[in-house]
Amino acid sequence: MKLLVQGPRAAAARVVRRVAGLPSPLAGRTVMVTGASSGIGRATALAVAATGARVLLVARRQAELEEVRAQIEDAGGAAEVYPCDLTDLDAIDRLVKDVLAAHGAVDYLVNNAGRSIRRSLELTYDRFHDIERTMAINYLGPVRLTMGLLPAMRAQRFGHVVNIVTWGIQIKAPKFAPYIASKAALDTFSRIAGREVFFDNVTFTNMRVSLVHTPMTAPTEAYRAMRGLTPEQAAERVVRALEDRPLTVNTRVADLYEVFNLVAPRLADFTLAVAHRAVGDSAAARAVASPPDEVAEVVEIPAPEDDA
Ligand SMILES: NC(=O)c1ccc[n+]([C@@H]2O[C@H](COP(=O)([O-])OP(=O)(O)OC[C@H]3O[C@@H](n4cnc5c(N)ncnc54)[C@H](OP(=O)(O)O)[C@@H]3O)[C@@H](O)[C@H]2O)c1
Repeated sequence: MKLLVQGPRAAAARVVRRVAGLPSPLAGRTVMVTGASSGIGRATALAVAATGARVLLVARRQAELEEVRAQIEDAGGAAEVYPCDLTDLDAIDRLVKDVLAAHGAVDYLVNNAGRSIRRSLELTYDRFHDIERTMAINYLGPVRLTMGLLPAMRAQRFGHVVNIVTWGIQIKAPKFAPYIASKAALDTFSRIAGREVFFDNVTFTNMRVSLVHTPMTAPTEAYRAMRGLTPEQAAERVVRALEDRPLTVNTRVADLYEVFNLVAPRLADFTLAVAHRAVGDSAAARAVASPPDEVAEVVEIPAPEDDA
């Protein structure tokens, strides 16, 4: 029943910790961070390690993960490297087996590895692989990993999963249909899973993140001048979500869009349809003749304001 008052409890615990100089609840815990080789995941791994947790670093690029591990160890922290392609379901099963053999259970999981695609439907008619690959990394991979780690979390009667999703779930921005749908699938899966494991003290947070300046968004010149978070600012919020275990972390702007979508859905469609017409596809998104994986289609949804 403690979970019913999770919000106020977490806020009170934060104040007590600050006043008494107590350690973070992450200290001594095992925390897996996917996509730890870059951007938000890398900054999160460093911030989590600074709380005294042991961090399990997951991504494809081993050399980058080793760099993060070295940085953590130089600062006196603990980290381990687990290279894995999270679109390969068998590889995920092997990862789960190795990690459970070494640690018994993972206490906290951050499903951060992901891929964003901004491309209008008319440029996607012949590119079904855009839909498949966003689902593979943003939905199927994290669900396979979560399902692998969940039984041990339930058995030890503690676990928390933070999903790095997008504020686009609430906004429903044109040109992002495959990407946002894949993140929305993870968001919904986790909300329902949270209900099934409620009495095992296992919880989920969906972080509907706005623009963060990372290697994912860097190639889009238009975003460079826009207000957004640094990876370190985003990581600070991820650590807070791990410590406080809220159901969702939203931005005010996206909350307003969600209300707009509910209260005046046709007007919301009209407004976003006008915006869709006014702003075209990027040069990268139009380069449909290029082989799929060479197209650097960047991106997240531009942030009108940083209020995350
Ligand atoms: N940046 C934003 O504005 C923003 C906004 C909302 C949500 N997000 C979400 O935040 C998350 C992190 O994005 P970011 O901006 O930090 O991008 P990033 O710097 O490009 O990092 C993406 C991470 O995902 C990993 N990854 C990608 N494909 C993978 C695969 N098949 N297997 C394992 N790992 C894989 C990458 O590692 P390897 O290449 O080494 O595998 C990398 O560490 C994503 O889920 C993104 O959708 C970002």
